Amino acid sequence: MIVKPSPENIARAAEIIRSGELVAFPTETVYGLGADATNQQAAKRIFEVKQRPFEDPLIVHVASISEIDQVANVPRGSRMAEQLERLSGLWPGPLTVVVPRSGRVAEAVCGGLDSVAVRVPAHPVAQALLKASAIPIAAPSANPFSYVSPTSAEHVESLLGSQIEMILDGGNCQVGIESTIVSLIEDTPAILRPGKITAQQLQELIGPVAERPRKAATTMAPGMMDHHYSPRTPLAFYGAIAKSDYPKRVGLVRFAPDMRSSEFPYSAVTTLSSRGNLDEVAQKLFSALREHDSLGLELILVDSCPEEGIGVAIMDRLRKACAARR
Ligand code: TXA
Ligand code: MG
Repeated sequence: MIVKPSPENIARAAEIIRSGELVAFPTETVYGLGADATNQQAAKRIFEVKQRPFEDPLIVHVASISEIDQVANVPRGSRMAEQLERLSGLWPGPLTVVVPRSGRVAEAVCGGLDSVAVRVPAHPVAQALLKASAIPIAAPSANPFSYVSPTSAEHVESLLGSQIEMILDGGNCQVGIESTIVSLIEDTPAILRPGKITAQQLQELIGPVAERPRKAATTMAPGMMDHHYSPRTPLAFYGAIAKSDYPKRVGLVRFAPDMRSSEFPYSAVTTLSSRGNLDEVAQKLFSALREHDSLGLELILVDSCPEEGIGVAIMDRLRKACAARR
């Protein structure tokens, strides 16, 4: 059930989390499906509801950097501690760091790894829930495994509503794509998933950062499974398919207005930004893909963009969605 994030509902949500059940809540990136990160049964329930493989670890959310010791085990005075300190200027925000884990985190959360992915979200509802429950909250994106991440409470309700106790409504997510994940476990910190926080921003704070996870990385690289983030309808980049090969019912998700709506009788055309602003594109992208996926189309065409700034993350998600096996 979708509820407003009133103080009473936040208090109830915290009760639900503390009792080992699930609550979906907004973050500035996407909606998360939350459970007590210290409770093995609660964490397992997340995997069941999402139908997610148990080897794919979850992100743990804490209210502030000062609580990171509850879930992480970063030796004081180490190089990693210093890197973490420098990165903490980006928190609360759309950044997740992978560091050695503490024994307090339930095994199931980390998928058998010695490390944990931690994030301090900025969304006021996420912050309120973390403070009220006073425990770290494990939360992956609140979508069925491999489907497009949710950026509104309605998105969560439509596919997982029947299985979740409560969905806190925080409106549409500001960032719209999942957090940047950087692993501090590697000798050279490595970006495991690009996001709104760019490689350049990280480099300015901690020096050299590997932008593509190396094949031999010991950590599991998120999104490595090639059918992540995808709608059920076949998706292709605009231009990858000749117009003469278009099926009858085609949707176009474009980044800016232009003349293309007259070149083919598209069944649906969605324009993500009136000026092609990529932050706005990221914010609205998943919602548009879900909408087009509900229209009974045979093909969805989507624009591409230069891989700079948040464009790196947009293209990462779209490439995976276009490559999806069905
Ligand atoms: O923006 C976000 O990060 C959202 C919100 C809800 O916080 N969460 C999110 O979670 O996108 P999820 O589960 O959809 O993606 C988490 C990714 C997974 O693909 C997983 O492989 C990776 O984080 N991950 C988690 N723990 C890890 C670890 N110890 N080492 C490497 N990767 C890890
Ligand atoms: Mg996800």
